[in-house]
This record gives sequence, C-alpha cells and structure tokens, in this order.
Amino acid sequence: MLKIDSLHQYYGGSHILRGLSFEAKVGEVTCLLGRNGVGKTTLLRCLMGLIPSREGSVSWEGHAITQLKPHQRVHAGIAYVPQGREIFPRLTVEENLLMGLSRFSAKEAKSVPEFIYELFPVLLQMKHRRGGDLSGGQQQQLAIGRALASRPRLLILDEPTEGIQPSVIKEIGVVISKLAARGDMAILLVEQFYDFAAELADQYLVMSRGEIVQQGRGENMEAEGVRGLVTI
Ligand SMILES: Nc1ncnc2c1ncn2[C@@H]1O[C@H](COP(=O)(O)OP(=O)(O)OP(=O)(O)O)[C@@H](O)[C@H]1O
Ligand SMILES: [Mg+2]
Repeated sequence: MLKIDSLHQYYGGSHILRGLSFEAKVGEVTCLLGRNGVGKTTLLRCLMGLIPSREGSVSWEGHAITQLKPHQRVHAGIAYVPQGREIFPRLTVEENLLMGLSRFSAKEAKSVPEFIYELFPVLLQMKHRRGGDLSGGQQQQLAIGRALASRPRLLILDEPTEGIQPSVIKEIGVVISKLAARGDMAILLVEQFYDFAAELADQYLVMSRGEIVQQGRGENMEAEGVRGLVTI
C-alpha cells in the first residue's frame, strides 16, 4: 500500500501541497481528479522524489520512502509516466523501452520483455522507429510500456489521455484495466477526463488547492457529484 501522510510542498513562497493525506491499495486503481493547477503533478513529482517534500511522510509497502532518491524509488518498485510523456525522441522505440529496464542487471536488461509488446502491439510494429516520429497516442503507449518494463508494483500515471485521440484512449483504458485485474499492482491515475477516470476507478480522490477535499469508491462518483467538481 502507498500511504501519504500530511504532505507539504512549496515553490518559493507558494504553498502548493497543503497537508495532503491518502492511501492507494495494491489491486486497485486510485483516480486522483482535480482542475488545472491544483498541484496534481507536484504531488506525483514528490512521490517520485524528483522534488523534495518539506513536511509529511510517504510510505510504500510499509517502508518510509520520503528520503529516497528517484532511482531508489524505482528499485522499490515504483514507476512513473510523466505528464507530456517525456520519451527520448531520438532513440528508437526499442531503445526507449530498454531504458525502462535500467533497474535490472545487464543480462536481464538485454531485451524488451515480451509482455510489453503483447500489451501494446503497435510498439512491436514500430520498434525500429524513432520515438519522436510516433503520434502522440503512440508516444503515450511507449511511455507506459517503458514504465511497465521495470515491473513496478506501483504505477503512477499523470494524465495519460491528455491530447490523445479517442481510439488510443480506449486502448490505454483496456491496458490499465488488464493491469488492475492482475491484482498485484497499485495504480495511481491522475486524470481530468472524468469519463475515463470513472470507468477505471476503484477509489477516487478529488484534489483542490493542494488538499484532498473529497474521496470515495469509484462506483459512487456520479452519485457523489464528482463530475461537477472537476469539470468546467
Ligand atoms: N517549477 C515550478 N515553480 C514554481 N511554481 C510551479 C512550478 N511547477 C508548478 N508550479 C505551480 O504550482 C501549482 C501546481 O502546479 P501543478 O503542475 O502541480 O498542477 P496540476 O494540478 O498538475 O495542473 P495541470 O492539470 O494543469 O497539469 C500551479 O500554480 C503551478 O503554476
Ligand atoms: Mg499536471
């Protein structure tokens, strides 16, 4: 389980995360919703150790990880698909995927695991193309594939549907459902696309101004008025 307790973070004088607390369980998709600029990406960057948290704690599988460096968090089984994807545009699809294997020994990191290409057949077809030549949707699939290559037990995704065509959004939804159904992974999905989140969420969280202001079970999102809280 991922457990976040009273997390605070600042950019200069701006207080961005304001005593934020929640849990995300293995075997569940936890969807974090919130409007632009409420601090969703800041939270995820704190969870990965990319920016420090000023106060509060993060624990994963019973161990405090608050002081760990990003690569140590990857070793602890955490993978992150950043907003905007951040693939390596000049490397091939295959080389991008191999980058996701950096936590393994050289022998284990020699070839792309078959399950990635099974989840995303398009990546197999395009394995020799440069990442930068892929469409936005294909790049998102590549970024997810690269994160999965590290065989995470916690997968963190930041707005994977942003700027992506509906058919690819559907494919990404299917992959997230398949991963959730395996039951051995906690998935933390940040989204602004309400319908996508509502379809996948076991648990939902609504964030506003650096705090969790509402939470509940995914099946109750409509009844509990979440759509109105997160859509304009
Ligand atoms: N590097 C930075 N330096 C200073 N302020 C920042 C920095 N990054 C983000 N901010 C500010 O922190 C606040 C939270 O930003 P953040 O990117 O976490 O929001 P978000 O919820 O992910 O938004 P979006 O939905 O647009 O992705 C915003 O007011 C933003 O302008
Ligand atoms: Mg963001």
